[in-house]
Amino acid sequence: MIEIVNVSKTYGGRLKAVDDISLTVESGCIYGFLGPNGAGKTTTIKLVTGIIQPDCGTIRVDGHDTKTDALGAKLSIGFVPDDPNIFLRLKGIEYLAFMADIYGVSSAARKKVIGEMAERFEMTSALGDKIQSYSHGMRQKIVIMGALQHQPKVWILDEPMTGLDPKSAYELKTMMREHADKGNTVFFSTHVLEVAEKVCDKVAVIGAGRILYAGGIEDMKKSGHASLEKMFLEMTQNA
Ligand SMILES: Nc1ncnc2c1ncn2[C@@H]1O[C@H](COP(=O)(O)OP(=O)(O)OP(=O)(O)O)[C@@H](O)[C@H]1O
Ligand SMILES: [Mg+2]
Repeated sequence: MIEIVNVSKTYGGRLKAVDDISLTVESGCIYGFLGPNGAGKTTTIKLVTGIIQPDCGTIRVDGHDTKTDALGAKLSIGFVPDDPNIFLRLKGIEYLAFMADIYGVSSAARKKVIGEMAERFEMTSALGDKIQSYSHGMRQKIVIMGALQHQPKVWILDEPMTGLDPKSAYELKTMMREHADKGNTVFFSTHVLEVAEKVCDKVAVIGAGRILYAGGIEDMKKSGHASLEKMFLEMTQNA
């Protein structure tokens, strides 16, 4: 579970990128995070993952306060950033070993998890190549594999489908569903509303740093909105 309570973040003393938001991302469901460009999605994600600190408010990840128990919170998170262009000079397998070392994954566990994920993502034969030789989608997949190796309870993924081919996107969506069905937390941002509508149990919409909607896809439809796209466009128009 992720609990965000009255959190704000200002950049450079001017812009309130996140403006007094409160949001609970429950376990056991896939939770989508939607909003126009510049709405505050990545900022919120960076606050939850402890990359940046809030001006005020409280964030708990799987019960760990990100201020008073930052390490506990970070250990429970698997984070995929929006830019997969990292550690380009390492080979894929070296990057995965580096991430496994950081999170203290045993050699038996990493072998099993890497083997399974590489197979699903069709990355097995590419693991010995340098990341700089990878396509965008392959970089995205190696970052996902690195982030999920330690089998964290809470997945936080910033636009994880970008650049993935249909098979890989299908595998990731299936992995997200499996993870949520085991009672874990999956929180991901996306611009693709068709994906959100199909994959998510719940969504939050952020506009100009404020939460405009948080709730179930079914509840949204019951409240008279024909589609997620229509609701999104209506809500964000005035934000
Ligand atoms: N490091 C930074 N310094 C100053 N302003 C920033 C910084 N990062 C983000 N911002 C500003 O904060 C606001 C929210 O940005 P954020 O990256 O959170 O949006 P987003 O919802 O992730 O957008 P996108 O859909 O384009 O990824 C924007 O106005 C952006 O210009
Ligand atoms: Mg973003």
